[in-house]
Amino acid sequence: MNAPSAIRHYLQFSDFSADEYAYLFQRAALLKKKFKGYQKHHPLADRTLAMIFEKASTRTRVSFEAGMYQLGGSVVHLTTNDSQLGRAEPIEDSARVISRMVDLVMIRTFEHTKIEAFAAHSRVPVINGLTNEFHPCQILADLFTFLEHRGTRADGTPDPAFLKGRTVAWVGDGNNMANTWLQAAEILGFTVHLSTPSGYEVDQSVAGVRSGESYKVFQDPMAACRGADLVTTDVWTSMGYEAENETRRAAFADWCVDAEMMRAAQPDALFMHCLPAHRGEEVEAEVIDGPQSVVWDEAENRMHVQKALMEYLLLGRL
Ligand code: CP
Ligand code: NVA
Repeated sequence: MNAPSAIRHYLQFSDFSADEYAYLFQRAALLKKKFKGYQKHHPLADRTLAMIFEKASTRTRVSFEAGMYQLGGSVVHLTTNDSQLGRAEPIEDSARVISRMVDLVMIRTFEHTKIEAFAAHSRVPVINGLTNEFHPCQILADLFTFLEHRGTRADGTPDPAFLKGRTVAWVGDGNNMANTWLQAAEILGFTVHLSTPSGYEVDQSVAGVRSGESYKVFQDPMAACRGADLVTTDVWTSMGYEAENETRRAAFADWCVDAEMMRAAQPDALFMHCLPAHRGEEVEAEVIDGPQSVVWDEAENRMHVQKALMEYLLLGRL
């Protein structure tokens, strides 16, 4: 066992190197195999994960909670409304207190600066379960799913080299998911074709990528999908932006992934969506429910990759 010497947090995709991702993908594949075979695996016995939700969740909650129990640990679930977080206790004080009692913290919140402030005052690793700016656990699952379907070695293990030179088409909002895709492209060597409505572009400085070399911008979503190996989208209105719903519905009307866009992509292109989805808005039902869609594997894989992540943050490489 090779435990990390200093506390590592996972706040952005860029917090880990390509080599660490290669380890996490192979570890997630192993943990998934154990899970499917009902093999007991309790490396985190007696460890506790605190999950703090300031926004709603289905997948993130279930995948972290079930995943931690499967690793032999336990979970504490907190929300803004049922904790002092909703009564203006400073985030720094919450971090100091919570991190004295648990081994790991997962937070879903609004501004990324808030999770950074928590991490800066935490004694234990902090994982980003979504902020306004980033959703690294989701992209970790998406890339694992991409490898599972298209990039495995002869022995069935994920081969991250497959990602080099691939094209991922992003159709929709320049949001937390889009920002995180750009970070992943820069680290793992693929290109993102970005098509967003005017006024909803990705801001490179917010996305935190060093250069514009790993992405290309397209006004026309169809052009972005041309030749892509993977087409992906997300809701038009992310959590926290509900007041803009009506304006966004008008602005995003042409950014709906349909069968024609999928035909413009590679014949074996996959479709992904982090979910929850709105059929008839950002994606047509025939695409998300069609043969190229891998959205259910994507959702399940959240649990497998996050188990690998939690193990890695607490125990290092095993
Ligand atoms: N994709 C995702 O993070 O889903 P939840 O909002 O349900 O957690
Ligand atoms: N961009 C979406 C993702 C939900 C999982 C949001 O932030 O609401």
